[in-house]
Amino acid sequence: MATTNSLTFTHHGDSAGDPGAERGRIGAGRAHGKAILLGEHAVVYGAPALAVPVAQLAATASATRWTGRDEGADKISFAIAGPGTASVTPPDMDSLRHLVTEFKARAPVVERMSVDVLIDCEIPQGRGLGSSAACARAAVLALADVFDRRLDAEAVFDLVQASEKVVHGRASGIDALATGATSPIVFRAGAARELPIAARFDGVLVIADSGVGGSTRDAVELVRRRFERDPAARETFVYRVSGLTRAAVRDLADGRPGDFGARLTENHGLLRDIGISTDQIDGLVEAALAAGALGAKISGGGLGGCLVALAGDHRGAAAVARRLCEAGAVRTWVVPVGRSASHAH
Ligand code: MEV
Repeated sequence: MATTNSLTFTHHGDSAGDPGAERGRIGAGRAHGKAILLGEHAVVYGAPALAVPVAQLAATASATRWTGRDEGADKISFAIAGPGTASVTPPDMDSLRHLVTEFKARAPVVERMSVDVLIDCEIPQGRGLGSSAACARAAVLALADVFDRRLDAEAVFDLVQASEKVVHGRASGIDALATGATSPIVFRAGAARELPIAARFDGVLVIADSGVGGSTRDAVELVRRRFERDPAARETFVYRVSGLTRAAVRDLADGRPGDFGARLTENHGLLRDIGISTDQIDGLVEAALAAGALGAKISGGGLGGCLVALAGDHRGAAAVARRLCEAGAVRTWVVPVGRSASHAH
């Protein structure tokens, strides 16, 4: 069920009411969820990673401007509606506050900012599907729209990334980019390019929600501590994941879904070994493989969240999704890639 939470803050000042204000322009912004196929965590240490946009999970924002009073402190309110927003946790509040500060620095708004931002987020939180980045991106675009400020792609990325760093601590930037991407991407060191997929590559991704939330911030911190204690483990992990991801790029370009699937499963093993999977997710990965998936792995920050499995076609994807639900997944989404994606349009 969708719930709504709100938070209000004034920028440099008190939160006194705004008598005499009149509703003015409305701006809109939109972003979507993402799923990481290979390379999460290693990407924080410079490895490449692959991600797909999950267009069916939208985050939209509308920004309503109030006019009629030009003096006093800025007054900005945020409300977030959507599944799993039973609480607006402090990082959300901090990140949105930070977003406004950064927005003002990048896109100077000389007049007093009096604006209500409503974010409607279909992306479940804490599932590694990019909800925080998508909400921030939708909010940035709505603010730019309502204040008539042109922001190029790099400026939008920088703003979303600034907010992500507040939410996740160390963030590679993959979520900030993938939540605005229109095609699968390969990301490395802050930059992304479109991931070439052979027209003959036949594959359907099944993303499954384990029903258990995981904190990306905690997961990134856990991995950081582990690597601090054991720098050689970091080197091996980053080296092996980089190799898998580069090989997976070639599998997609050359149309080899079986090999690509095997890389997913191998990447899962490496993520499990560094401690970011759970027994439940390991069980779901096994269930997907038993149902005929070509490969499966945990996806995103981990410690719960989602897994991603690759099926050979839509029928196979339906069988994998069914088995995952029987094994405890609470919902699934299907994302076709390659030939299956072009047939879906
Ligand atoms: C989160 O979706 C992916 C991580 O690699 C963190 C990051 O890259 O910012 C776990």
